[in-house]
Amino acid sequence: MTLKREPAAFGDLRGWIAALKSAGEIREITAEVDWNIELGTIMRLAQGAGDGPALLFSNIKDYNRRDSRCRKLFGCGLSSYSRVSMMMGMPANTHPRELVKLGRTVLNERLPPKIVPTGPVKQNIITGTDIDIEQFPVPFWNRVDGGRYILTYAGIVTRDPVTGIPNVGIYRGMVAGPDVIPILMWRAQHIGQHVTAWQQQGAKEMPIACVIGWEEALGFCAGQPVPKGISEYDVMGAIRGQPVELVKCETSDLMVPATAEIVIEGMLGLEPSSYVMEGPFAEFTGYVAGDRAPKPAIRVTCITHRDDPIMRGCIEGSLPGSYSENAICSSIMRSATAWNVLDRAGVPGITGVWCPPVQAGINVVVQMQQSYRGQAKQAANALWGSSAGHVRYKHVTVVDDDIDIHDYAAVDWAIAHRVNAGENDIVIMPATFGMGLDPSTRRRDRNAILFGTGKWNRVLIDATMNLDYDPDPDLGGARFPPTVWPVDADRNAVLKRWSELGLSPPKRS
Ligand SMILES: Cc1cc2nc3c(=O)[nH]c(=O)nc-3n(C[C@H](O)[C@H](O)[C@H](O)COP(=O)(O)O)c2cc1C
Repeated sequence: MTLKREPAAFGDLRGWIAALKSAGEIREITAEVDWNIELGTIMRLAQGAGDGPALLFSNIKDYNRRDSRCRKLFGCGLSSYSRVSMMMGMPANTHPRELVKLGRTVLNERLPPKIVPTGPVKQNIITGTDIDIEQFPVPFWNRVDGGRYILTYAGIVTRDPVTGIPNVGIYRGMVAGPDVIPILMWRAQHIGQHVTAWQQQGAKEMPIACVIGWEEALGFCAGQPVPKGISEYDVMGAIRGQPVELVKCETSDLMVPATAEIVIEGMLGLEPSSYVMEGPFAEFTGYVAGDRAPKPAIRVTCITHRDDPIMRGCIEGSLPGSYSENAICSSIMRSATAWNVLDRAGVPGITGVWCPPVQAGINVVVQMQQSYRGQAKQAANALWGSSAGHVRYKHVTVVDDDIDIHDYAAVDWAIAHRVNAGENDIVIMPATFGMGLDPSTRRRDRNAILFGTGKWNRVLIDATMNLDYDPDPDLGGARFPPTVWPVDADRNAVLKRWSELGLSPPKRS
């Protein structure tokens, strides 16, 4: 059954917070909390395994005076499937399996934005020597970080100088001075492609705008691989069912949501001589990553913000029991993207794809109806050969369609009993492009100049039943024996007597 989507527009971050309050999905923390380590630690412990609340901090040390420019910080907006469902206009209890199906088409839907003359984001305009990004409650999120990170969940807007099409992406950015923000970006990302295009035109700087705090469709689209040439603003419009209202920046032609909380406008330095030290940072892998090194930096030219603005941030990095917003969203969208890649490559029989949230798509499980031996290898090769495999899908596990890919025990059981390494069920694809943030990659192989981003040795675990085995006459021609699970007639007979037996309901029936 396909669930119907009822797109929901919340208006701005405040509308989203109000919706979360009505749904009991948010906790406001009114006790004083220190921006220095404490706030980030609270978020990391509170986010839970997809079951923690959204958090609004409204009493932040050093930023709780009456005249503080910004007094609040919101986070964990999308660190649960129920809130992702709300944002998508789906019932809050929608299963991730359904969200993956929706994710397959949602990034291709479009509703163009509407340009408006002005909006609340222009209520305060700061320029020149008045610019000081530390007037905002920027957390020192983790003790291991290289500095205070102001850009953790901002939609970073740039424009292709040839086509004029904007891109909105999430790229981390650190405070390096009152008006300096070095960021982490790779050439293969759309922002990196814009950098190349501006450089080819001889530019030494590129206009950039960082949108902090708007409806959750902003961070969701910015953090996921919206195809090149499609503006994330069009996709956000489609997700919310209403055009995004945009206003022009003060110091460039870039466009930003009129009801955003804070917009940092600037110019990104393109010349290596202008790079500024950035990193390391507690990264999405759950490890500290991205070495301290010179990176392209934003020279802030203007900040606009609403009255009493709300800072938006996120605690990056997942570990068992503590899943970030990136992990929750990526588990859906990286699964959906992989499924689309497999379809486009013509791999038949795909019935499901899942990237469990704890690792956000580094490992992917593909479920298929096999019709020939080699189908699992075909799937792995399609994923590894696609641009979507750039920093994802290092380990591909393929299972038959009787295995529930959302149940780790089921996948583990299939790996235990259907994998035979001597029969080519484990295949290593060495020295492919990969991800330089991966701590299992040797330091010298994380060289982005040599390898694009980093070097990965990829693995296929083919946990399907081997169709190349001879049919066994003793098993009625089957290749694998029956499992021990009772046949329907026997099971139904005892289930009828279950209450009489006084046992609690079986976990599996
Ligand atoms: C919370 C979060 C933090 C991210 N940090 C970075 C980062 O620092 N650098 C980067 O290149 N990508 C980062 N990403 C991934 C990109 O946002 C993602 O690949 C996105 O597709 C980039 O936009 P693009 O497809 O328009 O290039 C982050 C994603 C999320 C959700």
